Amino acid sequence: MEDLSNSGTASPSPSTFSLSASGSLEAISTPDTQRSLLFDDDVAEDPLDITGGNSRFIMVVGGLGYIGSHTVLELLKENYNVLVIDDLSNSYESVLHRIKALATEHFAAQDRPMPALHFRQLDYRSPCMRSILASYSSYSIGRKASTPITEITRAVPSGFPFSALQRTDSGIDMETDDAQETILRRESRISGVIHFAAYKSVEESIRMPLKYYSNNVCGLVDFLSLLEEFGIKNFVFSSSATVYGEGANCGVPLREELCVHHPETFYDDAGLERQVLPGVLGLTSPYGRSKFMCESILADIARSDPSWSITALRYFNPVGCHESGILGEDPRQKPSNLIPVITTVLTGTKPVLEIFGTDWSTPDGTAVRDFIHVVDLARGHIAALAASAARKIKTPFRAYNLGTGRGHTVREVLQSLEETSRRRIPVKEVGRRAGDVGFCVAEVRRAESELDWRAEKSLADCSVDVWNFTKGRCEPQISDEMIC
Ligand SMILES: NC(=O)c1ccc[n+]([C@@H]2O[C@H](COP(=O)([O-])OP(=O)(O)OC[C@H]3O[C@@H](n4cnc5c(N)ncnc54)[C@H](O)[C@@H]3O)[C@@H](O)[C@H]2O)c1
Repeated sequence: MEDLSNSGTASPSPSTFSLSASGSLEAISTPDTQRSLLFDDDVAEDPLDITGGNSRFIMVVGGLGYIGSHTVLELLKENYNVLVIDDLSNSYESVLHRIKALATEHFAAQDRPMPALHFRQLDYRSPCMRSILASYSSYSIGRKASTPITEITRAVPSGFPFSALQRTDSGIDMETDDAQETILRRESRISGVIHFAAYKSVEESIRMPLKYYSNNVCGLVDFLSLLEEFGIKNFVFSSSATVYGEGANCGVPLREELCVHHPETFYDDAGLERQVLPGVLGLTSPYGRSKFMCESILADIARSDPSWSITALRYFNPVGCHESGILGEDPRQKPSNLIPVITTVLTGTKPVLEIFGTDWSTPDGTAVRDFIHVVDLARGHIAALAASAARKIKTPFRAYNLGTGRGHTVREVLQSLEETSRRRIPVKEVGRRAGDVGFCVAEVRRAESELDWRAEKSLADCSVDVWNFTKGRCEPQISDEMIC
C-alpha cells in the first residue's frame, strides 16, 4: 500500500482498515457489489481491472464524526459501498468499529451480505488523496485520433505499470504508429462524495479564523479541483442554517431563497413572483462565513460546468443518536451544542446547564430551534444522492433545508430529557449571546417535494436515544438528589 502519511494536523499517525461482513467471496455480493472488495489492496493492486458500475463507492469525508458516522451506517444499510476519509481530529477510531458492529448485526438479521467499508485515516487536504482516488479508478483502453502519448501518460497514476499496458489482450503496442490513436480512459469508482469534514465551533472560529478558513474553505477548493481531475462531480455538502445570517430572525420558517448565490426568481406563499439577489446579511462568525463561502464556491463551479451535481444540505439542529445507544455524539473537542452540553450535566462533568436568553418572544421565553434527529438527517443525504442519480434535481447546484419544520424551545428539550432520564437537570439562566436568534425553524417543502425526504422522528425519540447513549456513562457518578 502507499504511504498514507498525514499532513497539516496533529492527528495520530495514519492507518488503513478494510472491513467486510464475511471472508467468503460469495458473501460479498449485493446489488451494488458483484465483485468482492475484501481488502483495499484488491483495488490498489489492479489498476487495469475494469469492473464498471459493479464496485462503486460513496466517499464520505469526515465520516467518523457525529453526523458522518450515522450517515455511513445508513449508506451501508442501503447497500452502498463506502470509503471513509477522516483524520480523527474530532473523532475516534472506535467509531469505525461501532459502525461495523451495527452494520454487521443489521445484515446478519436479514441474512444478507454487507457492502464494503473502507477507511483511510487522512487529512482530506493531504497530497495522498490523489493516490487514493487513483486507486479507486478503473482504466480502459480506447482509441482517439492523434492522441499524443504524453496525454496517455498523464492520465495514469504514478507507478502505473506500463509494461502491463503493452501486454494487453487487444495487442496494442504503444511503440507502433497505432499508438497515436490509443487513449487510456479513466473512470472513477467513486460515484459520489459526501463532504462533512470541517471544523465547527463558532467560538473557536472567532479565536482562530485562519484554522477555519484553511480547513473549511481552502481545503474544499483544492479538494474540488482534485475531484474534477478524476471526473467525480456528484457532491453533497454539509451546510448549515447559519448561512441565513440575520435572515434567521424573521420569525417564520426559513425558505432556501433567503440565501442564494446567483439571482433567482421564485413564488412566495401568496403566489407572487419575487426576485432575490445573491448574498446574505448578518453572518457573525468565521464558521458561518466559511459555510456561506463554500456554498458560493460550489454554486459558481456548478454554474461554470453544469455537468456537476452539487447539493448543499442546510442542517438545522441535529440531535439524537442511533437507537442502539452504541453510536452517538462523542467529539474530542468540548461540545457547544445544546444536547451534548446537557449530557455533560447528566454525566456530572458539568454542574449546571446555562440557558442563554429567557426573554425571547416565544411561549416560555427560551429560544426556539428546529431539532432534527441525526438518523433522519443521515437519510436526507441518501435521499440527495438518490435524487441526483435519478436526475430529479433541477439545477447543477441546489440547496435544501434539512429540518423538521417544527420548533421546540430549549425548555421543552430540557423537560423531554428530564422525563426520559428521570433526572433533574440543574439550570442557570444567563443573558442572550451576541448573534443568537430567537426562532430558527426550517421550511421543508423543497426537500419533501424534490428529494422525497421528510424527517420522521420526534423530540421524544431523540431524548430516548440520547439517554440510551448517555446512561451507561453517567450512572455511577450521579448523586441521588438528581433523581426526580
Ligand atoms: N453538528 C451540527 O450541529 C452541525 C450543524 C450544521 C452543520 N454542520 C456541519 O456538518 C458537518 C459535520 O458535523 P459534525 O457535527 O458531524 O462534526 P464532527 O466534528 O463530529 O465531524 C467532522 C469530522 O470530520 C473530521 N475532519 C475535520 N477536518 C478534517 C480534515 N481536514 N480531514 C479529514 N477529516 C477531517 C473530524 O475528525 C470529524 O470526524 C460539518 O461540516 C459541520 O460544519 C454540523
